[in-house]
Amino acid sequence: MPRLITLSRAARLVGVKRGALQKKIRAGELRTFEGELLLSDLLHSYPQAQVEDTTMLERVEQIMEQAVNKIVRPADEAPDTHTQAARILALGQELARARHEARRYAGLVEALKDKFQELAPQEGALHEEAFSKLSDWFFQALETDYSVDEASDDIVAKEAFLRVMAAQIRILPSGHEFFIEGADSILEAGLRSGLALSYGCSSGNCGQCKAKVVSGQVKKICPHDYVLTETEKGLGYILTCSNTAVTDVVLEADEALGTRDIPHQEIDIRIKKVERPDDRVLILHAKTPRTNRLRFLAGQYLSLEADGLPALDCSIASCPCDDMNLQFHLPVVSGNPFIEHLLNNTRQNNVISIKGPRGEFILNEESPRSLLLIACNAGFGPVKSLIEHAMALDIAEQIHVYWIVTAGNSHYLGNLCRSWADALDNFHYTALATDAETGVEALLPSIVADIDDLMNYDCYACVPAPLVETLKTSMDNYGLPEKQLHLEPVR
Ligand code: FES
Repeated sequence: MPRLITLSRAARLVGVKRGALQKKIRAGELRTFEGELLLSDLLHSYPQAQVEDTTMLERVEQIMEQAVNKIVRPADEAPDTHTQAARILALGQELARARHEARRYAGLVEALKDKFQELAPQEGALHEEAFSKLSDWFFQALETDYSVDEASDDIVAKEAFLRVMAAQIRILPSGHEFFIEGADSILEAGLRSGLALSYGCSSGNCGQCKAKVVSGQVKKICPHDYVLTETEKGLGYILTCSNTAVTDVVLEADEALGTRDIPHQEIDIRIKKVERPDDRVLILHAKTPRTNRLRFLAGQYLSLEADGLPALDCSIASCPCDDMNLQFHLPVVSGNPFIEHLLNNTRQNNVISIKGPRGEFILNEESPRSLLLIACNAGFGPVKSLIEHAMALDIAEQIHVYWIVTAGNSHYLGNLCRSWADALDNFHYTALATDAETGVEALLPSIVADIDDLMNYDCYACVPAPLVETLKTSMDNYGLPEKQLHLEPVR
């Protein structure tokens, strides 16, 4: 019987990114049936996929863990026993249904055999030849092995194992999919996967994460103060911050579709660490309260305030998938009171107030194009946020990063970029240097020449404010459509 699996599960099985499968679908190399793939087609496209060969998959998952500063859980952490038992039960039920079908077809075949004997026409009778051909074909077909190949049984077994270890969530109406592992809540797993699910407190108080279960089984993992009405419960509403998935689940849930869906927030955050990787930049690490995390989209910026000093706008350099641990890369501008304050008076746990987020320098998640990311000096901050978000979403076919530094600046997180490039086949990093900001434009021809076809890219660039218009004109001259160019001044 043809076996269909979702794109996300297919990618996991053969150890490639979802984007790679989508590319094959667009190229007509893989067929889809209402968003699902035939297992036999998958094996045909990836004949090297072996049940034991999970190296590639593990490597991609590992780098994603490190890339987005996730809390790395022990590799062997498994769902709790109740969840495992429920998933095994669901698989057992599926197996029972498959066995029932197999028995039904076996009985049908036996009945057909008898029927052929019974209806065999007498010699010379009408249609004798046609009947004889059909009969020969049928009995030959009974001897034929129609299974796809040996690997398919292994891959089916592997798929069943993955289904015990991780449930898949599908969000409606967007169709976004992600996996839920260990003891994560649905909300945590969704954010970790780069989705902008709607939420507020993350702790069962506000009700903003309310979502409707369309199919599948969920389980409450922590008590919540927010009270769902009986009607809501009857309709299948749950709080995603307080529930996990037992089986694969389809959920109707709100997601932020753009910056207008992200509320303005004012939060007091605590400084964890201030790093000074070179003379020109400060890296500020800070943490939000557990019950008052920051909702934002990658690439946005905030106003920072402390000790009554004038507010400072600064881009967020971390990923929305880790909404408690924030990072900022601040250019060191002499005489700036906020920077002086951070340099001279900062102690761990000092409080900074943040307001926002603001800004439209965000990923176009619906675009099928690859990413060209250009950062100049501390403009790497928001670009890093975009990179980590793109990795969490796992959608970009190719990611090319060009980090340009001017005299006195350094590629202060160059090792991080190189580790991404080492670990991910689709990630490419180039460190560039020039004497002055005016030299940035002169590097553009080599960047454009370096990538395959500029028209297949969405370009995101964070450069010093005076260069924004220059870059816009240059990219326009290269023929890049305006909708594919996203520019942001370094903040
Ligand atoms: S996020 Fe507030 S109740 Fe779930």
